[in-house]
Amino acid sequence: EKGNYPHFMLKEIFEQPETIENAIRGRINYEMGTAILNGLGFSPCELAQISRIVIAACGSSMHAGMVAEYYFEDIAGISTSVEQAAEFRYRNPIIEPNTLVIPISQSGETADTIAAVREAVGKGAYISALCNVVGSTIAREAGRGVYLHAGPEISVASTKAFSSQVAVLLLMALLLGRNRRLSRSEGCELVREIEQTPELIRSVLAQAEEIRAIAKRYAGFDDFFYIGRGCLYPTALEGALKLKEISYVHAEGYHAAELKHGPISLLDERHPVLALANDIPGRDKILGNIQECRARRAPVVAVATAGDREVENLTDDVIFIPHCSRFIAPLPTTVALQLFAYYIAVERGCEIDQPRNLAKSVTVE
Ligand code: F6R
Repeated sequence: EKGNYPHFMLKEIFEQPETIENAIRGRINYEMGTAILNGLGFSPCELAQISRIVIAACGSSMHAGMVAEYYFEDIAGISTSVEQAAEFRYRNPIIEPNTLVIPISQSGETADTIAAVREAVGKGAYISALCNVVGSTIAREAGRGVYLHAGPEISVASTKAFSSQVAVLLLMALLLGRNRRLSRSEGCELVREIEQTPELIRSVLAQAEEIRAIAKRYAGFDDFFYIGRGCLYPTALEGALKLKEISYVHAEGYHAAELKHGPISLLDERHPVLALANDIPGRDKILGNIQECRARRAPVVAVATAGDREVENLTDDVIFIPHCSRFIAPLPTTVALQLFAYYIAVERGCEIDQPRNLAKSVTVE
């Protein structure tokens, strides 16, 4: 039930400190600075053989996969690609030996992702699925995998499932990394960062009223751009998806470097830009992008690291997030963007939990 919350979406946004705790509970080996993911189902020897990862998913789950691409390559040194599940299924993909296919699906019932699982099984890949719904079709057909333990997600717009997916994928990367090049002390450092995530998210939730006040000022706009770099590029895509899903406002997520390759022609005072300017590699370049947007009179709302006066001085509004590493940054940043989308939808009088034209799980192609 919704309890004191007006919508399931808001309740689920606020559950995230606990759902992340549930996603990591019992899954960390502190001594060795690694993750324990028994469901993954591979022996250390098999894990060591994995030479490529292909992630297949749709929508928000695909965005979680795109964040994980950075994790698997950076932390574990394994070449990774993310496929829209429908594309994976119809393109006759090349699955080399020792490829691990990771289907990601909250519901475990998304038709295209199920088909991708069957394609991967047929081609003899290693498969390990990431699902929330226990006993769902994808969980069963993949045979092995990791559950999110996020509890039922009722709101059509995915929030807590997304953040749990990102957290579990980070644990997977940690495990694969420790199985390869990541040292114990680096593993322990990453464990410490992962453990801080619920607290970081709490500090964003504590700013809900400030985010609401910002959202109020932007609720009258009809077109938004979201820009980011690195792990915050898929985070920008996810933020834009949340806004368009529940508030019926046009929003596009872009890699910040892509602005100059087309979309900047649209920018003017009617096109606010949400710039993800956290203090991680790429921040300085985002500052340049913000200036380019300002020069076209586009209002800019930034997400930045607490105390970043430079970003504050460059932008119209800022949502501050405590300092965190580049791997963790997508999580609190996403929560801020979820709240921003939610409050814009509230201002616009939208339905929120059941947006028109959308179903919680897309069981047809
Ligand atoms: C976005 C959203 C959808 C789902 C997508 C995949 O908020 O809810 O984009 O993420 O339909 O669903 P699952 O994860 O159930 O396969």
